[in-house]
Amino acid sequence: MARDVWHSRLGFIMAAVGSAVGLGNLWRFPWMTSENGGAAFLLVYLGVVLCVGVPGLLAEFVIGRRSRRSPVGAFSSLSDSTLWRVFGHLSVVIAVVLLSFYSVVGGWILRYFGASLTGAYFSNPGQYFATVSYGLDAVGFHLLFLAITGLIVVRGIKRGIENATKLMMPAVVVLLVVLAAWASTLDGAGAGLAFYLSPDVELLEADLLGILPAAAGQALFTLSLGSGTMITYASYLDEERSLAADGAAIAVLNTCIGVLAGLVVFPLLFALVGDAGTGGPGALFVGLANAFVAVPYGRAVGAVFFAVVSLAAISSSISMLELPVSFLVDEYGVSRRRATALFVGVFTVTGSATAFSPGLFDFVAGTLVDLLMTAGLIGFLLFTGWVVGQNAVTEYELGAGAVASALSTPWLYAVGVVIPVFLIFTLVSGIAAALGVSITAVELWGVTISQPRLFAGLSVVIAVVSFLGLRRPASVA
Ligand code: TRP
Repeated sequence: MARDVWHSRLGFIMAAVGSAVGLGNLWRFPWMTSENGGAAFLLVYLGVVLCVGVPGLLAEFVIGRRSRRSPVGAFSSLSDSTLWRVFGHLSVVIAVVLLSFYSVVGGWILRYFGASLTGAYFSNPGQYFATVSYGLDAVGFHLLFLAITGLIVVRGIKRGIENATKLMMPAVVVLLVVLAAWASTLDGAGAGLAFYLSPDVELLEADLLGILPAAAGQALFTLSLGSGTMITYASYLDEERSLAADGAAIAVLNTCIGVLAGLVVFPLLFALVGDAGTGGPGALFVGLANAFVAVPYGRAVGAVFFAVVSLAAISSSISMLELPVSFLVDEYGVSRRRATALFVGVFTVTGSATAFSPGLFDFVAGTLVDLLMTAGLIGFLLFTGWVVGQNAVTEYELGAGAVASALSTPWLYAVGVVIPVFLIFTLVSGIAAALGVSITAVELWGVTISQPRLFAGLSVVIAVVSFLGLRRPASVA
């Protein structure tokens, strides 16, 4: 059977934006922003999106369109090194890890949509979240969310994913604009806007190293980078259109929607709860629920808000499910139906595990996902820069305009060298933080080396070793 392709360029863009815009923008972004200093975080995050996110997105697009295969197949068709083939499988693992917690949060959202209409959480939002967030209740709604995702993916690229996201994305934008306009009229919204939009420069200077890994993790997460989702989506492209133009459009749309989400969330929280709300994944639910309790027509406003989030979450979860499904379809010739059924089965189990255990949930949704995605993206970038190499430039230039073409060689240099070194640095700091290592300084042969320098040194060593380990292209494509 011929491989599916997107019906139109707009369809591809909408699907990719649908993947990018999701809980990352509406739930994780406000959570990370409030934990990392508000506007200072926003600033660093925007920088990382521009300098790392966009080039990274293009690298995934190049791998996908060049190979016309899902990540596992892409790596084995563009190189004959076993190491890369094994690495390709990591993308399936990451997608599985991602959806295992994503569908649990998706389930919370669906539940909150209903609970806004009925007013179920209105008497005590904090307690409500505590009783429904984990356990059997959470499992039930996680399964509902998973079932919706599966029903879209099983219909395939054009009929399922493209049609669904083409409707969902405009709806999300319109509803968010309405909500943001309304939120800005609330008494006390100004404090929220200030927290969100005017950066605290001192904090930035004092804690850049703390903010950077969180901002990098968030930037990758929100652009769906590092797991091969974008490789998969680009593999269904059959036209020679400018990848750079599409990538820029996707990144801009995603960023605007993220910023817009902040314009809804922060004014609302400051006006009605008094602060940004801190601490943990539930903060947003409890904080916003409190806000909906306090505003006029709170039930309706709450329902609209959670409807937006549901749409955004589903358009992302389908991209996570599409990856392992396309792997079975491409590599083993399994039918789409069977592959979807099989993976829905897998996620039923893995998602239920995170829905039962808050500890596991926190570890998976925070630390594990950040580290895996960063490691994944480092691999994709090195692969693009060193294995696909000159062919990547050729692929990038297909259909690209004059400006984009002029940037092709600097781009290859950035994805091959500069960005991997930066990402290795955030990975090393992230692992150190996860292990609870906080070395303030070490003494080596009588010289005192500060922690940032130590991490930077370690990153350079790891980068050099990885560069040395790279093979030249054995490209069959
Ligand atoms: N970007 C999505 C969001 O912001 C989440 C997502 C979808 C994702 N696919 C991904 C994150 C692949 C990392 C990798 O909600």
